[in-house]
Amino acid sequence: YGDFNQKIDYVFKVVLIGDSAVGKSQLLARFARNEFSLDSKATIGVEFQTKTLSIDNKTVKAQIWDTAGQERYRAVTSAYYRGAVGAMLVYDMTKRQSFDHMAKWLEELRGHADKNIVIMLIGNKSDLGSLRAVPTEDAQEFAQRENLFFMETSALEATNVETAFFTVLTEIY
Ligand code: GTP
Ligand code: MG
Repeated sequence: YGDFNQKIDYVFKVVLIGDSAVGKSQLLARFARNEFSLDSKATIGVEFQTKTLSIDNKTVKAQIWDTAGQERYRAVTSAYYRGAVGAMLVYDMTKRQSFDHMAKWLEELRGHADKNIVIMLIGNKSDLGSLRAVPTEDAQEFAQRENLFFMETSALEATNVETAFFTVLTEIY
């Protein structure tokens, strides 16, 4: 059988959140289509993409939601989080401020999402290592304190992107 008659065992909704320009949309493009664009436009409203993958012999359809980091472009918050079983909390490792805002994003997430949601903290743009503004240890410490998974990724170089999504989806399952 090809994809056509594929039986879906589970559909998992995962949301991406974090400041504007940290790379949420490009992480999604890399994961869903193995694409990347350097002149990515700011997201307006909400978009989503799906990817079907196999976990433990089950067919899992991941429905990944992406919204604007910019407040003025954001859609209704509660609808965005509704039904989400996983979340990617993304900062740009070359922008300290985007990491400092993680607490605020986490608070919004915890205020709207299910208590059992699986959360992954992501330090994106690891290809820009020489511009690093957030030490790995700072992020690890935050993740440990808040009970989050943590990974550094590069959407550009496709480093850890699949692993990050796969880890979240496996933990949900
Ligand atoms: P909003 O939609 O405004 O919330 O932003 P976003 O978080 O979706 O950011 P987006 O994915 O549009 O990426 C912003 C910029 O960062 C673009 O120029 C991307 O090409 C670039 N970018 C994204 N990921 C990476 C990465 O891993 N490495 C590098 N060097 N640049 C990246
Ligand atoms: Mg975007």
